[in-house]
Amino acid sequence: MMKKRSYIVSPKVQLNGLASKTYDVVIVGAGIAGMSVALSLNPKLKVALMSKEEIDESSTYKAQGGMAISIGANDSPEKHIADTLHVGRGLCRQPAVEVLIREGAKALEFLESLGTNFNHDENGICLSREAGHSENRIVHYYDYTGRHIAESMAAKVAERSNIDLFHHCFLVDILTKDQQCNGCIVENSGELMVLHASEVVIATGGYSGLFARSTNTMTANGDGIAAAYRAGAVIADMEFVQFHPTAFTTNAGKVFLLTEALRGEGAYLLNDAGKRFMLDYHPSGELAPRDEVARGIVNEMKLNNTDVVYLDARHMGGKYLADRFRQVYSELVQNGYHMERDLIPIAPAAHYTIGGILTDLLGKSTLLHLYACGEAASTGVHGANRLASNSLSEGVVFGRRVAHAINTEFHKTDLVAVIDMEGERVWYSTDIKKLGQDLARVAGVLRKGEELSSLLETLKCEIEDEKNSMESVQGYQACNACQLAELLLEAALFRRESRGTHYRADYLARNDVDFNKHTVQQWGRRAALQ
Ligand code: SIN
Repeated sequence: MMKKRSYIVSPKVQLNGLASKTYDVVIVGAGIAGMSVALSLNPKLKVALMSKEEIDESSTYKAQGGMAISIGANDSPEKHIADTLHVGRGLCRQPAVEVLIREGAKALEFLESLGTNFNHDENGICLSREAGHSENRIVHYYDYTGRHIAESMAAKVAERSNIDLFHHCFLVDILTKDQQCNGCIVENSGELMVLHASEVVIATGGYSGLFARSTNTMTANGDGIAAAYRAGAVIADMEFVQFHPTAFTTNAGKVFLLTEALRGEGAYLLNDAGKRFMLDYHPSGELAPRDEVARGIVNEMKLNNTDVVYLDARHMGGKYLADRFRQVYSELVQNGYHMERDLIPIAPAAHYTIGGILTDLLGKSTLLHLYACGEAASTGVHGANRLASNSLSEGVVFGRRVAHAINTEFHKTDLVAVIDMEGERVWYSTDIKKLGQDLARVAGVLRKGEELSSLLETLKCEIEDEKNSMESVQGYQACNACQLAELLLEAALFRRESRGTHYRADYLARNDVDFNKHTVQQWGRRAALQ
């Protein structure tokens, strides 16, 4: 079938007919990263903050664990840096890790200054443990830290008169002129609208919602990354998808995260025969790095021919569980499970995506005036595997860095009405639900070259000849999903080794000779042209 590439709104005539607004800064995405930017920008700047859905759909809102901050009496930033580098398996960008960890305590202060609380006891702030950490260092608010942070930040955003907040606003494409970003096109309440902006910040989150089983909602499907790719920004590390070991499936078929803090505080994993198996795979048992736990679980499911293994928290006591893990506890009760009584069936699910828009330490992408932060960005802090609870602090630390760069360097761009967008959009006939199942099967915890390449070929063949009915948010999302799936599959095929979250059954060993660099292959028009 002929590959048809169709421009969506680039012809100038079409743009001229659209409603438009002008801002100093447009921030796409209102999770922890986007709101950190918005609340740290100079209040003299006129800002648009756009959210695709309501606040409770964001990945921030769903984050249970907390933020890893090395403030404990026996802890130090050096220990936290060492843990992050160890779990990242040789691919972390060390300067980015240093920034993340050393600015963590300031990020915590920033959140506290916005009214966010964290659990305290008689000894001060409570620090819990998660996999891969050598010390207790996760600050949390019960088991709904993300929701609490998101609500506190949203309340502050609402007080800022320089910030216009748009809900249900979908990023269609990023606009460029002379290879510089100068705004974006969004769909708001069924209407396309041009937002002219001197600076655009992408904080749209990751793409784990592309997978059939994900702890995120389907809305986490990487729209900002796909738009940045079409605009010519370099995209990196797409193969690294982190699978959370312990995801429960609700009666309604929804995947629900069971926070790692449960294992951090003593819960075990049992196989179908009731055996505690993780110690057979790793000396740290249930608290081995997440990739190792996910692979251990998948292996046990294969050996026992089951779809699940079990989380056992029965020994932790109902009173404690119902208080400390109140959100998880009540969701499980609604689904007929009592943690003090029952084994809880779990299986891994796509949870966090490491790849995204390549940025420097100030969140600048390779496209002038386009920034990225949070899960949408590839800062290099996570390498091949993210250390648990490093991502909320990443959103704050790098979000604030983006704001600082804009505050320092801002000058109004001459925003001309004629926009010369270069982005291209490919329309696919792929069934997105099926793509999610295929990705989970082929690009999940265990991968094989043959299967990756066959799915990539299928995807490339399913290019639509006609775009017509696809021009809707649903159609745009489907295009984005397919473009990102292509990038992910290409990256996974290219990386002929096993490392961190990327495990190739046909290349079991880590290959330091060919792949021990931060970014081995980057995807983006600019990279392709160089
Ligand atoms: C969890 O609560 O297990 C998630 C924490 C994280 O992904 O960092």
